[in-house]
Amino acid sequence: MKDTEAIRQAAEIIRQGGIVAFPTETVYGLGADVYNPLAVARIFEVKRRPYFDPLIVHIASPAHLKKLVKDIPSSARKLTERFWPGPLTVVLLKEEHIPDIVTAGLPSIAVRMPDHLTALSLIKESKCPIAAPSANSFGYLSPTTAEHVREQLGDQVDLILDGGPCPVGIESTIVSFLDGKPGLLRPGGVSLEEIESVIGKVEISPIQDRPSAPGMLPRHYAPRTPIVIDWDKKHLDSYRDKRIGLLAFQESEHFLKFQHIEVLSKKGNVREAAANLFSAIRRLDALDLDLILAEPVPEAGLGRAIMDRLRRATSRGDSIQ
Ligand code: TXA
Ligand code: MG
Repeated sequence: MKDTEAIRQAAEIIRQGGIVAFPTETVYGLGADVYNPLAVARIFEVKRRPYFDPLIVHIASPAHLKKLVKDIPSSARKLTERFWPGPLTVVLLKEEHIPDIVTAGLPSIAVRMPDHLTALSLIKESKCPIAAPSANSFGYLSPTTAEHVREQLGDQVDLILDGGPCPVGIESTIVSFLDGKPGLLRPGGVSLEEIESVIGKVEISPIQDRPSAPGMLPRHYAPRTPIVIDWDKKHLDSYRDKRIGLLAFQESEHFLKFQHIEVLSKKGNVREAAANLFSAIRRLDALDLDLILAEPVPEAGLGRAIMDRLRRATSRGDSIQ
């Protein structure tokens, strides 16, 4: 099926109240017409996602933002002008007509304009903003290829648009403007440094139990295999009898014989590492290992988002529902 034909068909499904998985520059989303509460409810069902977790609304033009929100503070405007289309989500007070199921009853709404031609054409042809979480089962890694979506959600969705691997590979950065001052709810594809270079100091919201961005739940990206990030070469002996995989930041020599090594970026480039992160963890998770050791990446720029996802992937034992 040709791309344009597939997009036309996907848009028709959205207009009829169906759900479609589609590529964005960050990760694949599972979308429905924002104004169709029943269609949105099906997203929660398919993802087995708790109802308290609100969705991101995707638009195809910055001008559309004002139809969804009450007011756009100048700092939010500056960020959207600089980073849209792109991996930035803004949280603002919502207009009354947005169905509650989209925002999980919150008075605010999260909005972004993705930087991906397929996503933008789909939104335009659907003639409505598209509410979409990442297209994974709740609590697992976000999909960065159409194949990941197929493996997890398969025939439960009406159509999967295949746009190849997602170039950014890590979810959007979420910035809230609710309390007068901007706050970082989730680190992501636009770095904190880039954001602060446009609007100055941004408060970093700590992870909470009932967070304002429930995707911030500590154990939100957990693979089945335990992942350890705080390890020391000195302790590697105690792992000798185990089947261990290594999630390496860059290429280097290793003392321990690993069952499998995934290198995120041969040259140690954080952008490339972010793009490969979820696929690499999935491949390791599929090998039935006892343990995955992850190398830390420098915690600056996109490295912050990578470390955030790794920490979530390691924190087991927290109940999420
Ligand atoms: O890159 C992305 O953001 C991807 C692609 C598909 O756009 N989407 C994504 O969606 O990561 P999801 O649902 O997996 O994560 C959305 C996050 C959740 O942590 C949710 O709690 C938060 O956005 N969120 C949504 N609406 C919110 C609101 N009104 N206030 C605070 N957080 C909100
Ligand atoms: Mg998600």
